[in-house]
Amino acid sequence: MTKTVRTAIFPVAGMGTRFLPATKAIPKELLPVLDTPLIQYAIDEAREAGVEKMIFVNHPSKSAIEQHVLHDAKLNATLCERGKGKLAAELEAAALNEKDIEVVFTHQDEPLGLGHAILCAREEALPGAVAVLLPDDLILGRPGALGQMISAYENGDVDHMLATMEVPRENVSAYGVLSVSRRDGPFAICDGLVEKPDADVAPSTTAVVGRYVLDNSIFEALATQEPGAGGEIQLTDAIASAIGDKTVAGYRFAGNRFDCGSKEGMLSAQLFLAAQNPAYDEVISEFLGTGAQAEVA
Ligand code: G1P
Repeated sequence: MTKTVRTAIFPVAGMGTRFLPATKAIPKELLPVLDTPLIQYAIDEAREAGVEKMIFVNHPSKSAIEQHVLHDAKLNATLCERGKGKLAAELEAAALNEKDIEVVFTHQDEPLGLGHAILCAREEALPGAVAVLLPDDLILGRPGALGQMISAYENGDVDHMLATMEVPRENVSAYGVLSVSRRDGPFAICDGLVEKPDADVAPSTTAVVGRYVLDNSIFEALATQEPGAGGEIQLTDAIASAIGDKTVAGYRFAGNRFDCGSKEGMLSAQLFLAAQNPAYDEVISEFLGTGAQAEVA
């Protein structure tokens, strides 16, 4: 089986309940950090990592995602007519246009879990390992987290690689958590993996965040995976079922990760990016000058 990672899967069918009411009509993946929707950051990260095909596992009610992701020739023509050629060029560069990267939208009609969403991409995935990106985990860094992982994956002997970070023990129940048999630089070799454990029984504080590079055998594992935490088919459980046969490892990426599925994480991301852009200096210093306490990074 080839180690080349050619496919990126974006599970985007989720209801976004943690961010209601904002997500009542707007898909959470289209919530902006400054002027850029979350999904765009994930697309740019996957594009930079060099994948050939992107599969969006969407819900029929979230067609706005497709509208954002694909090139809109009519909008661009209108912008050009109105003398906004620069903006049109930026939109064109950001959009997926099928010239360089194959793009597929497929549906997950029922909320049966992240594992089920990935299984929905099975028929469309190119041969070999696949990458998975959860767009509400915004990871900022150069090179991007997925690019770092794919380089490590293609040059190493890990079968399933999961992005990881250390989290406070009181937060572990929001994550998949690794039981680590050995640490080796950025790698944490796993002898177990638990989805959303209680803090007092979690095997470590090394938590999975939303980037994965998975051996193609994951699809077979998912096809027979029973529902787990929350009654959903969990990706974590399918990866865990491979331990023993396959090498499963966490990868500690370099970069700043924000949980933009939560209000706190979204606010941190906005402040972090705004603080790096001199265009917002005045707004930030005015705000700080009001005496309000704000931590910007
Ligand atoms: C999912 C995964 C979980 C992982 C998390 C990272 O959970 O199931 O293992 O730690 O993403 O964000 P969710 O946040 O979708 O509940």
